[in-house]
Amino acid sequence: MSTDRIDKILAHEGFGTRKDVRKYFRASKVLVNGQVITDPGFHCDIDKDEISVEGEILNIEKNIYLMMNKPQNTVCANKDGLHQTVFDLLEEQYRIGFALENLHLIGRLDIDTEGLLIFTTDGKLTHRLISPKTNCPKKYFVRLENSIDENLKNEYEKKLAAGIRIPAEDNEDEADCLPAKIEFTSSDDEVYLTIVEGKYHQVKRMFRALGNKVIFLKRVSINELKLDENLSAGSYRKMSPEEVALLG
Ligand code: URA
Repeated sequence: MSTDRIDKILAHEGFGTRKDVRKYFRASKVLVNGQVITDPGFHCDIDKDEISVEGEILNIEKNIYLMMNKPQNTVCANKDGLHQTVFDLLEEQYRIGFALENLHLIGRLDIDTEGLLIFTTDGKLTHRLISPKTNCPKKYFVRLENSIDENLKNEYEKKLAAGIRIPAEDNEDEADCLPAKIEFTSSDDEVYLTIVEGKYHQVKRMFRALGNKVIFLKRVSINELKLDENLSAGSYRKMSPEEVALLG
């Protein structure tokens, strides 16, 4: 169960600032499950409790969870003077009110990376998934510049499983990565890589450390949640509660 202060909920719902909404409590205009609430600090659960203000029952927007197939040439930022952002691709309903203030990304992808990107207003979920302690697996489809033979496949597998040291890039120092899992495909230049961290340009730097180069990168899953392949690049949709649960 997740509860929140009722004055905060009303402020989210557009009744004004937390100071502004006090007048509704003073006038006994706020009811929770039919009971008058005069304490703005009263906690309630928007999934279970019925809240009304001045006789109107609130239809509260619950947390938002969107899955996007991020296209290339878009940046994972709220604003960017130069490039289109992933937020620019959202309909207006996700760029106003509660969503404007709370919608954020769970992890970022580089400008030239495609694939699974999650937008949510659920800060607790985000915190859990991006915490270094969680070791949340993220799987990428990778196309390499140089194809790899059986010897190299063995070498890559061993080095990645042992935890590879990645080179410095931009403002980031050299770093040691946690063990990662590579899966080979029928194409000698295409692999899947699963990593449990989110270091800057991590996948690209891992293949650089192996003497190769990533020429195409697409995230295909986060934990047990797979990208819906019916989503064309740049499109998105709401996630079902079952899909949210697959994120872990
Ligand atoms: N690793 C990268 O190098 N880039 C991404 O966008 C994601 C992971």
